[in-house]
Amino acid sequence: MINEIEIKSKLSNNLSKLPKYLFAEIDELKNEVISKGVDVIDLSIGDPDIPTPQPIIEALYEAAKDPSNHRYPSYSGMYSFRKAVSEWFYRRFNVEFDPKNEIIALIGSKEGIAHIHWAFLNPGDVSLVPDPGYPVYNSATILAGGIPYKLPLKEENNFFPSFENIPSNVINKAKIMFINYPNNPTSAKATYEQFEKAVWFAKKNNIILCSDLAYSEIYEDNEKPISIFNIPGAKDIAIEFHSLSKTFNMTGWRIGFAVGNQNIVNGLLSIKSNVDSGVFNAIQIAGIRALQPDMEKYAQQNREIISRRKKKMVSILKDVGLEVYTSTATFYLWVKNPKGLSSKEISMIFLKEIGIVVTPGNGFGENGEGYFRISLTAPDDKIEEAANRIKKLKL
Ligand code: MLT
Repeated sequence: MINEIEIKSKLSNNLSKLPKYLFAEIDELKNEVISKGVDVIDLSIGDPDIPTPQPIIEALYEAAKDPSNHRYPSYSGMYSFRKAVSEWFYRRFNVEFDPKNEIIALIGSKEGIAHIHWAFLNPGDVSLVPDPGYPVYNSATILAGGIPYKLPLKEENNFFPSFENIPSNVINKAKIMFINYPNNPTSAKATYEQFEKAVWFAKKNNIILCSDLAYSEIYEDNEKPISIFNIPGAKDIAIEFHSLSKTFNMTGWRIGFAVGNQNIVNGLLSIKSNVDSGVFNAIQIAGIRALQPDMEKYAQQNREIISRRKKKMVSILKDVGLEVYTSTATFYLWVKNPKGLSSKEISMIFLKEIGIVVTPGNGFGENGEGYFRISLTAPDDKIEEAANRIKKLKL
């Protein structure tokens, strides 16, 4: 039988350059502590604890019973799903997309974010990726043979990249660029002017602009995040990735979509039709249900729950002397490490001393060092219990 060392030596060059997926590594550490009998509270991955709304489950149940849904789905997604996306998008952002060729269904936005690199990068091409950032931008670039160039997100710039600092030889090789606001992991929101800058920079340099808007519906105080397509001209060079995961508590269902420039969407479709066979029709039908206007009340309930948790946790963290960066969006808190501790050290203190799993900031890239991330996606009683444990921490 082939052993672990042998298999490692057989991994592709690109795959062997990657660290273990951040949340897979955290799971291993967590399970080790759980096996010692510790009652662990997981505030690491952004995986909503609230169940998927009942009407969505019922739509899936009905659709799953229909044999016509048991065969291969279409590669770009059911027309009715794409139409529901286009109507939702228009209601939410006041921007029109043609379901025929400007919208594609995804097996979760992570899948589309990964595949877009295969569609457009040749070996040696550069992808501009935020750091700290969702790990997939970086790893998918490497797997596609590209070179990630990190755009540092600094607190003094409200965690927005400074395009003027990118060297011209890098810009010349750059094919795609990712932005993600509301931002994971920092929670920062972008302004209209910042999005305008991103569109201007991408157009000027002929770079495909990829906007990751997975957290568009997680906001407070009715401060709704905008889409990159609210900027005139964005359709010339942009694609935007959306997810039903966080809005409707559907992380396990694996459904999302991309909208944008029809040629970019078509490039993504070409790669997808070569490597996957689309989203189960019954799940798309459940997705159509999720995108109806009457489901907005469930998204609103989520927002209220998250907002309550956020207030509670921010005040406890401040009480114990921790500095927290937070915005009115996402369910993440981006917390500064106590003096003298690295991100890994503080995460281990949380895990080993008080049984709480948080995500070390450097897991999102080297500019995340100095921070750790708390995800408010555990039930209220667990958040309460976590707050009590944090109060006892001596930092
Ligand atoms: C996160 O916690 O950063 C995300 O939920 C991870 C993911 O979506 O894969």
